[in-house]
Amino acid sequence: MLDVDDLHAYYGKSHILQGVSFRVGEGEIVSLLGRNGAGRSTTIKTIMGEVAPVGTIRFRGERIDGLAPHVIARKGLGYLIMVDEPTEGLAPLIVERVRELLETVSRRGVAILLIEQKLAIALTISQRLYVMGQGRIVFEGTPQDLRKHDAVRKEWLEV
Ligand SMILES: Nc1ncnc2c1ncn2[C@@H]1O[C@H](COP(=O)(O)OP(=O)(O)O)[C@@H](O)[C@H]1O
Ligand SMILES: [Mg+2]
Repeated sequence: MLDVDDLHAYYGKSHILQGVSFRVGEGEIVSLLGRNGAGRSTTIKTIMGEVAPVGTIRFRGERIDGLAPHVIARKGLGYLIMVDEPTEGLAPLIVERVRELLETVSRRGVAILLIEQKLAIALTISQRLYVMGQGRIVFEGTPQDLRKHDAVRKEWLEV
């Protein structure tokens, strides 16, 4: 569905994304976790063509890196499929509603890339997850894998 390979991105001279690779399969919920400033939003902006990509981005098998944002959006890729911190600042009850909504959308076969800082929601709804730090993917695995890796959580996720 979405395949990102060795993606780099810059803001001026700052090298923000330093070789990010990940994939989201059909109907999968995949989380991209990380602390503030890790580069998660920049990853989405680069996929959407709002920030110039260096690297390969494929959506449904087709190269989209280098296309204009409106062309990419017309292909059906956007901020419904990629949700950037949907639960930020929300009350627990509403967080629960957001979680249900994401699961409903996913059950209809839509792939979801969930950007989060909160571990709890990501651990319960994703099939796989990636942890980002300093513009790179520093961990990938299942929620069970991440539960076992205290060091990864301490170094890259806990505030
Ligand atoms: N428009 C911008 N101009 C310059 N630097 C930016 C801009 N947006 C984000 N950054 C920097 O890029 C890095 C990654 O930010 P961001 O992708 O927003 O992280 P996250 O979404 O994981 O919190 C941070 O160091 C941030 O300060
Ligand atoms: Mg962000």
